[in-house]
Amino acid sequence: MASIRVGLLGLGVVGGGTWKVLQKNAEEIARRAGRRIEVAAVAVRDVEKARRLLGDSDVRITTDGLEVARDPNIDIVVELIGGETIAKEWVMEAIRQGKHVVTANKALLACHGNEIFDAASSKGVMVMFEAAVAGGIPIIKAIREGLTANRIDWIAGIINGTTNFILSEMQSRGLPFNTVLAEAQRLGYAEADPTFDIEGVDAAHKLTLLASLAFGIPVQFDKACVEGISKLEAEDIQHAARLGYRIKLLGITRRRDDGIELRVHPTLIPMGCLLANVDGAMNAVLVHGDAVGPTLYYGQGAGEMPTASAVVADLVDVARLESADPEHRVPHLAFQPDAVKDIPILGA
Ligand code: HSE
Repeated sequence: MASIRVGLLGLGVVGGGTWKVLQKNAEEIARRAGRRIEVAAVAVRDVEKARRLLGDSDVRITTDGLEVARDPNIDIVVELIGGETIAKEWVMEAIRQGKHVVTANKALLACHGNEIFDAASSKGVMVMFEAAVAGGIPIIKAIREGLTANRIDWIAGIINGTTNFILSEMQSRGLPFNTVLAEAQRLGYAEADPTFDIEGVDAAHKLTLLASLAFGIPVQFDKACVEGISKLEAEDIQHAARLGYRIKLLGITRRRDDGIELRVHPTLIPMGCLLANVDGAMNAVLVHGDAVGPTLYYGQGAGEMPTASAVVADLVDVARLESADPEHRVPHLAFQPDAVKDIPILGA
């Protein structure tokens, strides 16, 4: 069978990781996808840097993502540039051109997801976003597929690696906030604008997506209640420890009779609880379903290779399902902007 051809928008931390995983595990990936996944083109800011990473491969390098989105030889566009402006323009163009999209961009989907998923639905293409939430943990697949028999009651999780890394290092090594933040940036955990991490915005973007999937509601990031960790001091962490608690930045969404809670804030967690012991850049998400009860998903929530693992998993899914009837594959695999449009969000 012919290869499925991919256009990568961005070759930074996650884009570079995606390229590496696709090369390193090419044989296994081809077996699982049913055909080879081939990177045909990349759109980057720095062409020389891209050439160094891509070596002597014949991948086409351009600085224009629209060119990739319009390339008739490309089947899937992978958006890894982040941000909401150019990313949205290139993603929407790819959809208009009838291409499937894989993205790690939680800000884009949390703020413009309704429009993007509607457009994808009309064109019968898939928009996949496993890498947008909790890095390498397959949490989207777990909610969308593994727990599909359940009515989801609530989700609570540590879904920002940078802030969890900062809180853990402040707690265990007594390091100052800014030193640890600089280390998180060096390790490729933090957003381009780390304010998004520190002020809880990144976690709220991810929570918005989880709530949409779990409860079948449109994305409503603007209604979330969001508080980050910037007001926390070393003393707060020490006081909490003396009382037997850890402070964690939690994202919580819960179904109530009067609506759906959507909130991100620092939370005191008793030291005996599982979530209190999730350290470093690790993420952990608890999902409670009415049939299954509580389930826990744990793993690396940020960084090059864990996030690339999720991007490539989406590519394999698209390759497998590409030939299926669009009527059946889109609601199954993409976001489900279904019935519940008017349910109140209990957030801000
Ligand atoms: N800045 C994000 C984090 C990256 O720290 O979790 C992964 O989404």
